[in-house]
Amino acid sequence: MLAAVAVHQDPDDPLSGLELREVPDPKAPEGWAVVRVVAAALNHHDLWTLRGVGHPADRLPMVLGCDAAGIDEDGNEVVIHPVIGDPAAGGGDETLDPARALLSEQHDGAFAELLCVPRRNLVPKPASLSFEEAACLPVAWLTAYRMLFTQARIRPGDRVLVQGAGGGVATAAIALASSAGATVYATSRSESKLTAALELGAHHVALSGARLPERVDVVVETVGEATWEHSLKSLRPGGTVVVAGATSGASPSAHLDRIFYRQQRVLGSTGGTRQEFVSLLRFMESAGIRPQVDRVLPLSDIHSGFRAMLDGELTGKVVIRVS
Ligand SMILES: NC(=O)c1ccc[n+]([C@@H]2O[C@H](COP(=O)([O-])OP(=O)(O)OC[C@H]3O[C@@H](n4cnc5c(N)ncnc54)[C@H](OP(=O)(O)O)[C@@H]3O)[C@@H](O)[C@H]2O)c1
Repeated sequence: MLAAVAVHQDPDDPLSGLELREVPDPKAPEGWAVVRVVAAALNHHDLWTLRGVGHPADRLPMVLGCDAAGIDEDGNEVVIHPVIGDPAAGGGDETLDPARALLSEQHDGAFAELLCVPRRNLVPKPASLSFEEAACLPVAWLTAYRMLFTQARIRPGDRVLVQGAGGGVATAAIALASSAGATVYATSRSESKLTAALELGAHHVALSGARLPERVDVVVETVGEATWEHSLKSLRPGGTVVVAGATSGASPSAHLDRIFYRQQRVLGSTGGTRQEFVSLLRFMESAGIRPQVDRVLPLSDIHSGFRAMLDGELTGKVVIRVS
């Protein structure tokens, strides 16, 4: 079958290590299932793998892709929960299993005609969502859901700042927080992405780094160094910043004086559980939320999708239509 495979890593030229090539069809071990992938989505995680960040070189070659929706062996339409882990090993939460892995970290991923995953990772696709829309949800939307509802525990009326409005996680956070009754502030480097954020449900927008008219209760942070200081400055005393990524760099000044004096809480967040994924899908159906798709490409054009991500052009998700 045809697949997009990480064959080598280069921190400066990540796309040089992404190859479209024929690979053997997967065979499902006991307890696993093979899914025919209809749509898959790009994540920044794929670029980190190609750069050599968080992914040992000895695991290559590896089929990339953490997000997929498709059809299982029994003909059911499914969307894949992307965290492969054991809830028992994580105290009831598979994201806390020390041995957990995201799809494409230890097992071949979604940019292929066939995908092999544990049966517990198959989740029924909501009929109201297309395959392209469903493929956007497993990583970006699940991450945003856990950040907002499990970690920060937002409530209606909370003021929520989402940094880097154009990103996959960020667009999800804007839509989810707004639908949950929060007042949403969003920042971006780009005026056009700020306009898109307003359409998604943000109430107030500002260019990255600009002072907000009031302090917020919660900050959704995935940008890292470029926005960290602004996140802490924008947060009210006693407020919570939830961090799930660091696209622009992972080592900003910590500003510990500000954190302890204002008694701010800093919470990490990674992925989400299967139960949170099911809750996310239900919430999206009941609230009528649909993910923002920036563009849909064939597998043969996957490099151009990643190029747009590297160039910061995207508003929402790039979806690959596989079959
Ligand atoms: N922990 C987890 O489970 C988890 C899950 C998903 C993602 N992540 C991480 O979260 C991050 C975002 O992922 P994604 O898939 O949403 O990526 P993405 O779609 O490529 O978004 C990247 C974001 O970074 C912002 N950005 C990049 N460079 C910037 C800079 N120099 N200054 C200000 N903003 C900048 C962009 O905002 P504008 O262009 O609007 O300014 C954009 O929102 C990645 O680092 C990813 O690895 C973690």
